[in-house]
Amino acid sequence: MEIAIIGASGYAGGELIRLLLLHSDAEVVCATSRKLAGKPIEHAHPHLKGFVSLSFENPSIDAIDADVAFLAVPHTTGMAYARPLLERGMKVVDLSADYRLPKEIFERIYAVPHSDYFEAPYGIPELHRKKIRGMDFVSNPGCFPTGAILAAAPLATQAHTVIFDSKTGVSGAGDNPSEVTHYPNVGDNVNPYKWTNHRHLAEMRMELERLGSGAACYFTPHLVPVNRGILTTAHILLREPTSQQEVEERYRSYYRDEPFVRLQNPVLAAVRGSNFCDIRVEADGRRVVAVSAIDNLGKGASGQAIQNMNLMCGYQETDGLLSPGLLP
Ligand SMILES: NC(=O)c1ccc[n+]([C@@H]2O[C@H](COP(=O)([O-])OP(=O)(O)OC[C@H]3O[C@@H](n4cnc5c(N)ncnc54)[C@H](OP(=O)(O)O)[C@@H]3O)[C@@H](O)[C@H]2O)c1
Repeated sequence: MEIAIIGASGYAGGELIRLLLLHSDAEVVCATSRKLAGKPIEHAHPHLKGFVSLSFENPSIDAIDADVAFLAVPHTTGMAYARPLLERGMKVVDLSADYRLPKEIFERIYAVPHSDYFEAPYGIPELHRKKIRGMDFVSNPGCFPTGAILAAAPLATQAHTVIFDSKTGVSGAGDNPSEVTHYPNVGDNVNPYKWTNHRHLAEMRMELERLGSGAACYFTPHLVPVNRGILTTAHILLREPTSQQEVEERYRSYYRDEPFVRLQNPVLAAVRGSNFCDIRVEADGRRVVAVSAIDNLGKGASGQAIQNMNLMCGYQETDGLLSPGLLP
């Protein structure tokens, strides 16, 4: 199966190339970057030298020929590529935010008109596997919503309020340096940002609603000095009290057949480089604390995108994705 990656010089694009090397039937044949066109892949991704003989090329829709295309481009750019690539017969997984939300919510939150809207399955396989399987287009979720929703989903219908508090590594901001990601501002420090209005909150609310929850939902992210990973503490306030045994049983049965959700103490470094989401829950009467750990570039982006591709194309859902994390 031939793969094109639009936006291959970025962090998510690089991780897609790395993970696809482990897939039983995938070969990256096109990797785009406007800034690095003509340069070999290792120019941006030195860890891939010797594994891929490919140079970056300019993203020209008419020249892209593959079975599957991943859009690892910034929001508002996915919408320029999605339909034209579908029309050229490719299956498409979009890692940008462009097709995650209903049109009017997207336009309000991202403050831009959507130039080419259509509805797409929201790619959290644990929640929407049936809608993803066999599809030509899937919208890959945001990194924060993935870890947050997986932590809260089993209790969504019993909750009246859910508060997500996340700590994220710096690669979540992409490979463009900024004042916020400047080392002296990040190193040896913890910074809350977008305390009440981070864009990903809309995805969290949408998914809780789809799960049948009427819970109010709030979210505050923090930037911490690690490269990869998101640790999310979900404070789940219930209408009725529960016990530790009850809540553990609920999570166990909810995720019983899920290959990428592990119920164990979430250790950020233990999921690094992997597609796993580790979750532990603790009950305290009407309050349950559920903590999840994912790699923002793994289950939070490229790993989950490949999991979606596997479902769309009829491969084993785990193909290419079963490697363990990198600890320490
Ligand atoms: N980083 C994460 O943890 C993470 C997690 C979940 C989802 N995502 C989403 O995944 C997407 C990529 O994220 P990233 O962190 O990999 O970003 P990044 O490191 O900034 O990389 C962006 C890539 O897109 C290309 N690009 C930028 N503007 C473009 C345009 N107008 N047309 C074509 N290509 C363009 C860039 O290369 P050139 O400019 O050289 O063309 C680069 O290869 C974003 O939508 C992001 O929100 C990221």
